[in-house]
Amino acid sequence: MIDIKITDQEFQLFQRLIYKIAGISLSDAKKVLLVGRLTKRLRQYELTSFTSYYRMLASGEHPEEMQTMVDLLTTNETYFFREPHHFDYLRREIIEKRRSAATFRVWSAASSSGEEVYSIAMTLADALGDASWEVVGSDISTQVLSKAVAGHYSLARTEGIPLGFMREYCLKGVRSHAGTFLIAPELRRKTSFHHINLMHPVTDNIGEFEVIFLRNVMIYFDPETKTKVVHNLLPRLKSGGHLIIGHSETLNGITDRVVLVKPTIYRKP
Ligand SMILES: C[S@@+](CC[C@H](N)C(=O)[O-])C[C@H]1O[C@@H](n2cnc3c(N)ncnc32)[C@H](O)[C@@H]1O
Repeated sequence: MIDIKITDQEFQLFQRLIYKIAGISLSDAKKVLLVGRLTKRLRQYELTSFTSYYRMLASGEHPEEMQTMVDLLTTNETYFFREPHHFDYLRREIIEKRRSAATFRVWSAASSSGEEVYSIAMTLADALGDASWEVVGSDISTQVLSKAVAGHYSLARTEGIPLGFMREYCLKGVRSHAGTFLIAPELRRKTSFHHINLMHPVTDNIGEFEVIFLRNVMIYFDPETKTKVVHNLLPRLKSGGHLIIGHSETLNGITDRVVLVKPTIYRKP
């Protein structure tokens, strides 16, 4: 099979396209990654150059292929109880100190394949007992969203899930499902997933939230995009609610509509 090469000009076309659609800034170092991920799409359509693939996407005649390209160019790495101190903070400083008895609602705004949503759900189920709660997950990638909805993972991914939660909320697969586990239905019933591109104001009917997790996605955005994305989200955060970001991210110089509580945790006045 002959390798399909990409020129610098072709790479720039894709850099501009993914930036325009998803806000993702692909550095020049990502050229090999892009070729690796998109070559199979060119072969699928029997195209011999990245220019032809770009033209096909830009023609607007294959909207589903644009989604496939977005799915392939997003980085979806995630795991259960990533940055565990955020889940401790959620329990001790937010849930245990809350004064309202209203349904406690959390949004994981770049949820990837759902591990973050279910880590939040386990924390809420355990901390809130019989009180009402909901977790909403959303992502730009439809591929990861279908994994999230299924709530079915390899047992190799359980590292990080506290043992008690594993027993309480995870159903180990047997026979043909050996080596996997399913998130318990009582947790899945209180979660929902939506296809939301954070580059646009949120029009979905997802309501308002006490807490929004926006973790490990702003690393792919330039400062202008970070501001846009945060301002698209904030109308959905209740006043007094918390916005939690990833450990290598900051909102310093990005927005003054939230105040820093401690590194990576902000509050809407
Ligand atoms: C590295 S994962 C982070 C997952 C999870 N929040 C965590 O911290 O483990 C980043 C996710 O952001 C999503 N993403 C990238 N750009 C997006 C956009 N414009 N709108 C919504 N989601 C986006 C990607 O599809 C990917 O699943």
